[in-house]
Amino acid sequence: MNIDRNRLLARLDELGRIGMAGAPGRTRLALTEEDRLGRDLVTAWIREAGAQVYIDSIGNIHGVLRGAEGGPPVMTGSHIDTVKRAGPLDGCYGVVAGIEVIAALHGAGTLPARTLVVTAFTNEEGVRYAPDLLGSRVMTKDISVAEALQLISTDGERCGEELRRIGYAGDHAPWDFLPGIFVELHIEQGPVLDTRRIPIGVVERVQGYSWWKISVSGRANHAGTAPMSMRLDAGAAAMQIASQLTERSVVNQSPSVATIGTFSVDPGAINVVPGKATFTVDFRDPSDEGLERAELALRRSLDKLQNAGFSTTMECISRHCAVTFSDAICKEIAEAAAERSLPTLKMVSGASHDAQMLARLCPTAMIFVPSRGGISHNPEEFTDPDDLANGAEVLLGTISRLINRRIPAQ
Ligand code: HGY
Ligand code: MN
Ligand code: MN
Repeated sequence: MNIDRNRLLARLDELGRIGMAGAPGRTRLALTEEDRLGRDLVTAWIREAGAQVYIDSIGNIHGVLRGAEGGPPVMTGSHIDTVKRAGPLDGCYGVVAGIEVIAALHGAGTLPARTLVVTAFTNEEGVRYAPDLLGSRVMTKDISVAEALQLISTDGERCGEELRRIGYAGDHAPWDFLPGIFVELHIEQGPVLDTRRIPIGVVERVQGYSWWKISVSGRANHAGTAPMSMRLDAGAAAMQIASQLTERSVVNQSPSVATIGTFSVDPGAINVVPGKATFTVDFRDPSDEGLERAELALRRSLDKLQNAGFSTTMECISRHCAVTFSDAICKEIAEAAAERSLPTLKMVSGASHDAQMLARLCPTAMIFVPSRGGISHNPEEFTDPDDLANGAEVLLGTISRLINRRIPAQ
């Protein structure tokens, strides 16, 4: 029983071509027309592989291959929504490889003991709708369906209406397919496996992270007449804080990272001292204490601005402590790789994934493959085809080992 390597690569290429409008890379933000086109492709492939398609009320797509016995399914999957100008593999790889596993099991002619579910989660990236990991949060009841459907996108569209508009407002409950095990295959998106030339990562943990929306309000003024000493320049103040955050991460040399991904000033004219600045901060840290230290340092910097006459806000958009995955599932992954004589490396994920929500529910772990140069969230994102095929084979091997056995304890 094997993965169809050529079909895997051809489908990643085909899905990767959706959302390529002019600018480099593809953009398929959650619940947009481009996302709908990607969803339509994936549902067709699931049916072609021999499984049923079920859409739930937050738009998660579930490909279900019924097993001979009852009991909680084995689930794999990831996401097909992207960031802006993304690469072709982030998320998509785990979904398309999962469909290959369905095809291989279905093609084997013998029903697996347990049901296999391959899921494409809604709005994993959190670029158009906040918070991120929306589909897996709703599935694990971290956020209610009602609350999620009321979310308003960055372009002002209500989630529930967008799901209806693209035809993915499903009538299944997100917990209709609650798994007994979850395994997610993903590209590493970092430099470790590529640098060390190791084909398979066994992901034991995901680092913690928090996303913040910051605003600094001062006083707009004339760029020529206002003496520097009289200014409350919100733009300059915000830029100073932003550079302090990134310097701090460099200076303390810890693995903690800080990113200012969006930054805007108001009114945004060449000859007006900015009256207001708004920016986002993405903190990540393998230790929860490190994450708290970074957040405290930011709060203190904003307090200092308050004392200097500015007004500031610090709104948390999303926050997750570090998550530890299941040893039992990590062992199954390592053994599936060893069966294929593939070296492995135990690692921590720098990026967040739906698996960190599923880990609250059931024994969960992840499989990584190398990202060339550690590049991701960038059109240059690339993984060698042999690595892509190896990762999919390890996913098939891991699921084959699990699908006919009782579900190990957490
Ligand atoms: O932000 C992340 O780590 C993921 O790509 N959503
Ligand atoms: Mn991803
Ligand atoms: Mn991503």
